[in-house]
Amino acid sequence: MGSRIGVLMGGLSTERDISLKSGTAVVAALRARGHEVVDIVVDRDLPTQLLHHRIDVAWIALHGRFGEDGCVQGLLEVMGIPYTGSGVLASAVCMDKAATKRALRGVPEVVMAEDVTIRRGESIPELPLPAVVKPAVGGSTLGIARVTRPEEAELAIRAALALDPTVLVEAFVQGPEITVAVLDGEPLPAIGIVPQKGFFDFEAKYSKGQTRYDAPAQVPDRVSQAAQRAAKLAYRALGCRGLARADFIVGSDDVPIFLEINTLPGMTPTSLSPMAAELVGIDFSGLCERILATAQCMEPEV
Ligand SMILES: Nc1ncnc2c1ncn2[C@@H]1O[C@H](COP(=O)(O)OP(=O)(O)O)[C@@H](O)[C@H]1O
Ligand SMILES: [Mg+2]
Repeated sequence: MGSRIGVLMGGLSTERDISLKSGTAVVAALRARGHEVVDIVVDRDLPTQLLHHRIDVAWIALHGRFGEDGCVQGLLEVMGIPYTGSGVLASAVCMDKAATKRALRGVPEVVMAEDVTIRRGESIPELPLPAVVKPAVGGSTLGIARVTRPEEAELAIRAALALDPTVLVEAFVQGPEITVAVLDGEPLPAIGIVPQKGFFDFEAKYSKGQTRYDAPAQVPDRVSQAAQRAAKLAYRALGCRGLARADFIVGSDDVPIFLEINTLPGMTPTSLSPMAAELVGIDFSGLCERILATAQCMEPEV
């Protein structure tokens, strides 16, 4: 191919360490397949590094703010460097859970929990209780709280508003959690996420042994198929590219309730998307190459 791939990792978000793990794994996998790869640890000097390394394509292994929200994507567009994953608009919309839900309201197959959006300075309206309070932007369960009483909700909303100017209060959904990765528009099998303690929080998410993953998810076929269909439609409606991963909770009537879609999901060898890809015979290196093949950027108009 003769193309120089820059794997962008690290970055300026709370998920920097996870990103370094994703990036290191992607670098190794692409090198093993014979690609010319440079690892680029992203800090404020990313523009200088991009000029210096003269890469032909950027494989983005960043998570969270700046890397997953369209900022780095915008920089690469301006520089004319094709990059993997979703473009600027889809990245920005999917980063914000309130904006994502607004964008999906016209898609009937994507069922979502009732919610209220509260912005800084606004008074608190009537809430759907019990509820989950979460900052609109932010990943990895930071600032998320489960509440049952109004006073409790108010405290959680204040805490979340300190992290983000917009907070989502979403009706609590009881049921098994599943996640569906979508690769280049097609859904992979659903994976089940089974916390060994009550709530799927940050600690459980990144600590070995605290969460069990079922590959494939132990839910009836029609449930995983409904989630796959919803994930595919959400991906399409939001204009995602490359790999994205939608999170669901299966509600009481067996309907998968859509929570969010991650446009740069974890890519360590034990992450959920690689696990799902394995089920259909795509190994980790193969997945990295499939994502690589979806890299693009806009052409200038003049
Ligand atoms: N409406 C809800 N009902 C019950 N649990 C929820 C709800 N929303 C989120 N959660 C829990 O919080 C976790 C994180 O929520 P999510 O919306 O996926 O945000 P993120 O993964 O970005 O932190 C979920 O995996 C789930 O365990
Ligand atoms: Mg999630």
